[in-house]
Amino acid sequence: KNLEGLNFQLSEEHIAVKDAARDFAQNDLLPGVIERDIHVKFPKEEAKKMGELGFMGMMVDAKYGGSGMDTLSYVLAMEEICKVDASAGVIMSVNNSLVCYGLAAYGSEEQKVRFLTPLASGQVIGAFCLSEPEAGSDATSQRTTAEDKGDHYLLNGTKNWITNGDSSSICLVMAQTNPELKHKGINCLIVEKGTPGFAIGNKEDKMGIRASDTHSLMFSDVKVPKENRIGAEGFGFKFAMSTLNGGRIGIAAQALGIAAGAFDLSVKYAKERKTFGKPIAEHQAIQFKLAEMRTKIEAARWMVYKAARDKDSGNDYVESAAMAKYYASEVAMWATTEAVQIHGGYGYVREFHVERMMRDAKITQIYEGTTEIQKMVIAREILK
Ligand code: CAA
Ligand code: FAD
Repeated sequence: KNLEGLNFQLSEEHIAVKDAARDFAQNDLLPGVIERDIHVKFPKEEAKKMGELGFMGMMVDAKYGGSGMDTLSYVLAMEEICKVDASAGVIMSVNNSLVCYGLAAYGSEEQKVRFLTPLASGQVIGAFCLSEPEAGSDATSQRTTAEDKGDHYLLNGTKNWITNGDSSSICLVMAQTNPELKHKGINCLIVEKGTPGFAIGNKEDKMGIRASDTHSLMFSDVKVPKENRIGAEGFGFKFAMSTLNGGRIGIAAQALGIAAGAFDLSVKYAKERKTFGKPIAEHQAIQFKLAEMRTKIEAARWMVYKAARDKDSGNDYVESAAMAKYYASEVAMWATTEAVQIHGGYGYVREFHVERMMRDAKITQIYEGTTEIQKMVIAREILK
């Protein structure tokens, strides 16, 4: 299936993007990454610089302030950034593959000029608001309502777990307008921060990706003009699902980066640390761990690149995105746990980075559709 997507030849542009992302990660993200994790500090300056370097709207046309690159470039940059800082990675992923892609693919010309341009050029950050306290995996059961009032919608309800919840200026909010139509009654509305009735809840105190800001968002009689609806009436759920297909490629790349970052640190450490008179890299037990990590990470890498290639080639990528996200996130959780083991006691303290990577890896099995949801998506594709 989709064999024409199998060309992984990197162009000079791809390599330049990968190098630029690696330099940025090493020079700008690495120095403060442990402190930001400890103090739950959003990487404000670093996010601004990601925008200046063109990493916040990578797949958006230059006409709307983006970098005009393909999905493979985006995945390569995500991988390099997440090798060092998965919190910066999720800020970037939500902005690129959910908010910017969603607006670029389905927004009106007016919406692109007004909202996409500042988002893609990194002047402001966006948020994607689908999940609710009682609607996570079961995303069709939206409780948030968007009552049709003629020239505007009246938005009421609560969104949960919103990445960039505080730092964002523009939010894409899914809400139910016609409950009798079930998911076909849902709309996606562009809601600006500062609109009366729009409040931000407390920051979540998370296990991992602690530097990214996750908040609930509350809407109480928020007036949203009709021209802020994306697509036709009732298109909101299809919009969310279609956009999430690409989002899952971004999270797969995040997982790949976390695993690859932990692997690189493990190889370095195994060569340096000596026990029983020789580097631990000379013990076969450690060599086998490294060999297994390398193999699984490489398999995950090709799956992530394949999903990106499918999207770039115009192939259907629902299944390849779900498979890449499912597999890469499993590899990330497993490989980071092995990385901590290779580091012994040093792996259990913050200074050596791998304990943070293990905590960060876990979220890749949960958000943008849990592992179980990815399996449902894959099974439905097989059986349809
Ligand atoms: N691509 C396109 N359309 C899709 C789709 C996909 N991957 N998955 C479902 N749809 C469409 C279906 O075709 C159907 O449309 P029609 O009625 O027109 O045929 C519609 O959506 C409803 O689908 P189902 O009947 O299959 O609905 P369901 O309730 O049985 O299950 C689900 C749907 C796949 C489980 C879905 O609810 C889901 O994906 N849940 C996970 C939600 C999720 O990923 N949330 C992420 C939030 S964002 C986030 O997490 C960001 C972050 O952390 C950084
Ligand atoms: P539930 O849906 O309650 O699932 C609980 C468990 O049951 C899981 O293991 C799940 O896999 C399993 N399960 C559920 N249904 C089934 C089934 N039918 N078959 C088998 N197993 C099932 N959402 C946004 O909209 N925007 C964001 O920016 C965003 N960012 C996030 C950031 C963080 C740090 C976190 C933690 C979450 C974020 N989310 C965001 C929400 C995320 O997408 C949801 O948490 C996720 O989709 C799971 O939903 P839930 O938490 O309600 O779990």
